[in-house]
Amino acid sequence: MLIEQEDKVRTELWRVSQHMLELKSSIIREILKISSQPGVISFAGGLPAPELFPVEELKEVAAHVLDTYGPNCLQYSVSRGIVPLREELAQRAEKIGIPTTPNNILICSGAQQAIEVIGRTFLEPGDYILTENPTYVGALQAFNCYQARYAPVEMDEEGMIMDQVAEQIERYKPKLVYTVTNFQNPTGITMSLKRREQLVEICSNFNTPIVDDNPYGQIRFDGEEVRDIKAIGGDQVISLSTFSKTLAPGLRIGWMNGAEDMIAIFEKVKQSTDLHTSTFSQFICYEFVHQGKLDRQIERIKPDYRRKRDTMLQAMRDVFPEGIKWTEPEGGLFLWVELPKHMSAKDLLPKAIDLKVAYVYGQPFFPKGDGENTLRLNFSNATLEGIVEGITRLGKLFAENM
Ligand SMILES: Cc1ncc(COP(=O)(O)O)c(C=O)c1O
Repeated sequence: MLIEQEDKVRTELWRVSQHMLELKSSIIREILKISSQPGVISFAGGLPAPELFPVEELKEVAAHVLDTYGPNCLQYSVSRGIVPLREELAQRAEKIGIPTTPNNILICSGAQQAIEVIGRTFLEPGDYILTENPTYVGALQAFNCYQARYAPVEMDEEGMIMDQVAEQIERYKPKLVYTVTNFQNPTGITMSLKRREQLVEICSNFNTPIVDDNPYGQIRFDGEEVRDIKAIGGDQVISLSTFSKTLAPGLRIGWMNGAEDMIAIFEKVKQSTDLHTSTFSQFICYEFVHQGKLDRQIERIKPDYRRKRDTMLQAMRDVFPEGIKWTEPEGGLFLWVELPKHMSAKDLLPKAIDLKVAYVYGQPFFPKGDGENTLRLNFSNATLEGIVEGITRLGKLFAENM
């Protein structure tokens, strides 16, 4: 209490930017705090399954990195990222039809930093960004630092509805389109090929860059791969990815793939924040990829997540009452639930926590705060028994409040 009071006085005495004082902390972090209490089955986080982290392999790779590169892997390094990692990522992009050289790649401290750098580079206060409705809450948080406004576009099972995209671009002239084309966080929806082509065409006509935030594309466990939007749109698209969901988020390695002239600007912007991303983490990721371990790790993750998704979907079919709808994603970490319109997922959350099960209600993912009746469920981070038990508790709670 004392500390809180002192903080308040200090922020008043010291002239902290009013805008930063008004920023809200992520509601998801708050919910995570509650849901990490002992005994709570949590579908709230976006965490990969910790038991799948390749701890032993990483021990070997870390030792190999230290033996091979010695002090160099602990030294300051270039802002753009170490060359061997950029080469490796460029080759992987080429394999999925994206012409890429190491100069197209900027290594970042997670995809989150890439989003922040893009926001800082493009936005003046009041500028618009076109997003899916709902969208990744961490992107909203980053863009909010730069006082962005939003032109959200509704989705169906094929992703953003393109008539609305054209309308919104014409009306609000957004600085960029931000999309999560694969297994979107929060809905699990993947944009269809046709929509990707349409989005590229519309954005090319309006000269609006597309930022495709793609942490989940490699975690497809069903269905057909959809052509990467950067393979369709080339330099019109800046694509972001990360090792967080395929390897381990604690390494904090993500990257951008964009046109060289833009990457040069983003590099300067990033430099002002952290000089460069952890050299040691970069070498570890490089060796992990180079030794073929990443592809094996991805193949290890997929059947586990598929099983968890299937278990969750089956439990939902078994126990959720009539009138509730949900997505059935073919990959990624999340699915999305729509309760009947009159129900509030936010109001039901404390009751769910009483029943020792947690989710994230949907509202924070909507740039304009709608979606009262929606919620996101993460299936990667609970056990199979936990999934069945947690969904059973939620089914009862929803049935009692229909
Ligand atoms: C869509 C999306 N973008 C970016 C991130 C952040 O990823 P990173 O850990 O690489 O910063 C996440 C993490 O949940 C995400 O879901």
